[in-house]
Amino acid sequence: MTEPRESAPKEIPKDFRPGEIRKVDFHGQEVIVIYLGANRYYALSARCTHLKCDLSKVGAVIREELVCQCHFSRFSLADGRVLKGPARSPLKVYKVEVRDDKIVIGE
Ligand code: FES
Repeated sequence: MTEPRESAPKEIPKDFRPGEIRKVDFHGQEVIVIYLGANRYYALSARCTHLKCDLSKVGAVIREELVCQCHFSRFSLADGRVLKGPARSPLKVYKVEVRDDKIVIGE
C-alpha cells in the first residue's frame, strides 16, 4: 500500500476581513480559511466530521474555537481536535503561510 501523496501548496489572495470564513478549493478538497486578524490565518476541512455540515455556512468562530452550528460541536482552530461533541473525529488542519499579498495553503 502506498502513502497518500501531499498536494502542492496553493496560493490565494490575502484579501480577508477579520473574522471572515471563506471556502476555497484545495485540489478538490473543500477547505475553509479563517482569518482572525493580525495575520492569523487557519485552514481546516470544510465539512464537519459529525454529519458533514458545511462549515463555511454554519461555522462560527468563538475565541480560538470553531463551532458547527448544526449540532454545536466545537473544534480547536489550532489542531482541529474535538473540544465538544457530538463530533468524535477531528477536522483536518492545513498549513497556512502568509507571503506578501498571498496566503499559501499546504498539507
Ligand atoms: S454536523 Fe456539525 S455538529 Fe453535527
